[in-house]
Amino acid sequence: MMRLNAEMRAPRPSLHALLTAIGIAAATAAVIPAPARAATPGSYEADHAQAVAALADIQAAITTIMHAEDAATAGPAAYKTASSSAINALVGSQDSSFSTQAANPGDEVGAIGHVNQLLDRASSPPWVPELHGVLVNAQAAVSALQDANNAHDLDSYELSASRALTDLEVAKGRASEYDSLGGISGALANTALAVTDGAAVENGCMAPRHAGFGLYQGYLSYRAVPLSSIGGAGIDNPGGAKIRLHNGMLVFYTAAAPQVVQMCGATHAEAQQTMPETALSPTHVSPAVFTSSGPSPLLIEAADTSGGNAPALYTAAQASAGAQVYAQDCASCHGANLQGVAAPALAGKDFQKTAISDKYSVSIIRTIATQNMPLSNPGSLSDTQYADVLAYLLAANCYPAGTKPFPTQDEPALQVIMGPPSPPSGTADANGVCAVH
Ligand code: HEC
Repeated sequence: MMRLNAEMRAPRPSLHALLTAIGIAAATAAVIPAPARAATPGSYEADHAQAVAALADIQAAITTIMHAEDAATAGPAAYKTASSSAINALVGSQDSSFSTQAANPGDEVGAIGHVNQLLDRASSPPWVPELHGVLVNAQAAVSALQDANNAHDLDSYELSASRALTDLEVAKGRASEYDSLGGISGALANTALAVTDGAAVENGCMAPRHAGFGLYQGYLSYRAVPLSSIGGAGIDNPGGAKIRLHNGMLVFYTAAAPQVVQMCGATHAEAQQTMPETALSPTHVSPAVFTSSGPSPLLIEAADTSGGNAPALYTAAQASAGAQVYAQDCASCHGANLQGVAAPALAGKDFQKTAISDKYSVSIIRTIATQNMPLSNPGSLSDTQYADVLAYLLAANCYPAGTKPFPTQDEPALQVIMGPPSPPSGTADANGVCAVH
């Protein structure tokens, strides 16, 4: 039995878990090959379609090689057909390496063709170095696959096919990297290549005003999605780590966001010395970007009050009522003491650790609870019951009670990151959970 090895990379579990929990199918672009739509050459949409098609072709080649395992038992003719098919997906039907004897699991243009069309530019968008890397790796994979095709025994076939797989995994890359390590996935997640049909594009240096994409000099700093749309069809996971709630939108910051912030800051400083603000605007970005009267600067580090401040967000009566709701509708999965059983912990050290590392605000927890919980029957509680059970979660996490009830709507006060509050309002047990009366 043959064993093909590529350098496999683990997904980012915590972000994925959050996306799943709030109902976003964390689909990577790889599984949604977009049909090439008629669009102006060089438009965001056309570029996006090319990049998605390139990724789909690379993925098709990977899948074909992986499936060669079955073919290998059927003898050399079958596994050679598999490597020819993978080559076809990479080179496209116009290339001299294309084999009419084998199927093409990709499209006519081929991954290399799509990447070449994206690189064929007078301007140099920031994804150029990444795509050069994709090209080199895809070409290396083709040559390894040709070696595989010429192999006289299964061992040397495997060796070459494994090399091709590694090259293709690198070409595919990962969304959480925005530089040359990102491959096509990184370019799709962190640059203008992410921008889809009809989406609003805003200045990536500023906080988002509308749902859409934040671009600055070709880099994508965030994607903003209206909260109301979450739970519907999947959106691409941009692969970044930070998520903020802002103006009723979930804002997914990309891996490139920190670099964008630096670039914005540098431009701003330079501009203050030398030129009026209109001269600053890169293409596609409206002027008045850095004026003091303009919108607030981006990357609103939503007030991270963890550790410094324990706001009173609910009443004691709500928390008591919430204890009943919890026992009836949540405890079966999350544990009688919120310690986590089948489902994650919702209070105490384990929960707070996740909350801090994933920047779970009260607002995000509220969104998860009201839209997805109880998992067995989402949305089945009344507004009051949800508010009560969330009050109970805050109390169990040692947040203080106050006079203002926990709201039945999202509001800015809920953008508090849920770390261990200081000072805690009660006495925590060994797990860091406070008793609720
Ligand atoms: C049938 C089982 C089940 C029930 C009942 C249930 N949950 Fe959950 N809950 C889960 C699972 C599983 C997850 C983790 C989902 C994931 O990570 O994709 C989860 C996640 C959560 C999260 C996010 C925690 C985190 O660390 O990501 C919150 C908050 C939550 N549930 C609250 C509630 C509340 C409040 C109730 C009662 C109203 C409830 N759940 C009832 C299964 C359940």
